Amino acid sequence: MTLLVTGGAGFIGANFVLDWLAAHDETVVNLDKLTYAGNPETLASLQGNAHHVFVQGDIGDAALVSRLLAEHQPRAVVNFAAESHVDRSIHGPGDFIETNIVGTFRLLESVRSYWSGLSDTHRDGGVAPTKSSFRFLHVSTDEVYGSLSKGDPAFAETHRYEPNSPYSASKAASDHLVRAWHHTYGLPVLTTNCSNNYGPYHFPEKLIPLMIVNALAGKPLPVYGDGMQIRDWLYVKDHCSAIRRVLEAGRLGETYNVGGWNEKPNIEIVNTVCKLLDELRPKQDGTSYATQIAYVTDRPGHDRRYAIDARKLEAELGWKPAETFETGIRKTVEWYLANPDWVAHVQSGSYRDWVSKNYAERQA
Ligand code: NAD
Ligand code: TYD
Repeated sequence: MTLLVTGGAGFIGANFVLDWLAAHDETVVNLDKLTYAGNPETLASLQGNAHHVFVQGDIGDAALVSRLLAEHQPRAVVNFAAESHVDRSIHGPGDFIETNIVGTFRLLESVRSYWSGLSDTHRDGGVAPTKSSFRFLHVSTDEVYGSLSKGDPAFAETHRYEPNSPYSASKAASDHLVRAWHHTYGLPVLTTNCSNNYGPYHFPEKLIPLMIVNALAGKPLPVYGDGMQIRDWLYVKDHCSAIRRVLEAGRLGETYNVGGWNEKPNIEIVNTVCKLLDELRPKQDGTSYATQIAYVTDRPGHDRRYAIDARKLEAELGWKPAETFETGIRKTVEWYLANPDWVAHVQSGSYRDWVSKNYAERQA
């Protein structure tokens, strides 16, 4: 049995692949373009593992994807591949349109062609996938629902789509394509919409890892606007367990919201990170890392509040997160303290060039 995972050298995809291969005797074909966000070093522990087949390539490369599908006959495709950073989508939306919309469309077409050639009943002793056992799981975000005001109920799956950033608009478009490929062609799809993730291997351009690495480097901690924007945080391993559960038992064509009921204002997150670092790696001059906090110009179109109502996933599929925010954030800070080489490597090259072009305040 085989899974085709896309974007499996990125933050969530790599955590998914590592967890999957630690628990299953099933091959993972990992298709990743290795953009600035994809890092083969994250997968170094899988070197020599015959169950991991890494392929550098684009989800939009129909010839490559069709060849991989024909060769490996996966029972499912799990689509993590995307451009994922809101700030980057503001500075340059083109790649987001190309990968998240056009790439997903091309991937869906390659998968549809493979899926329509599968048999209706089990052959080969029941191992090969069939038309009805095959799954296409699309990994998406809560940002497609737009922004909540104080007191609004959390996003349920029935909330209307109101994306506000080029990133969220591109993810919303991809969700609609996935939905249409199910309703029009019968492709057996599942979609998950998750809140903000954090944990090991998170690229240090996103809030939590950026605060950790900037704090340790003695750089400013840039808090956008008043820092009172609210995000709903989920430890990445809990997101991965939700995806496994949906893949196993999700109802076809359904969407499942994934979240851990952890709404927190950004400034509280930054202060928590500083407190943990004060405890685990105190500064030599005795001051708190919080003295490095610097309020900076707000992100244009900044969504004020996200919150996920995960009751459908909990009630229908019995999923529950294993970590609280307190346990997850401590593990995360400890992981970054233990892995400075990983951080140094992902911060080099094209990432450094991009930051120096776009973010004066992030330089030391
Ligand atoms: P990431 O940016 O860390 O990783 C994305 C990966 O996709 C990288 O390895 C990159 O090389 C690869 N990729 C990009 N374009 C590609 C292409 N055209 N073909 C093949 N591979 C390509 O992102 P992430 O945070 O791991 O997010 C993974 C998925 O989860 C995305 O679809 C994102 O929208 C969704 N999501 C993320 C979060 C979050 O908090 N990070 C929350 C909810 C949903
Ligand atoms: P981010 O990690 O970019 O995720 P998203 O925009 O997808 O939610 O940002 C999380 C929140 O933190 C968001 O409200 C923007 C804010 N933020 C800062 O205040 N400073 C920063 O340097 C970054 C990267 C984000």
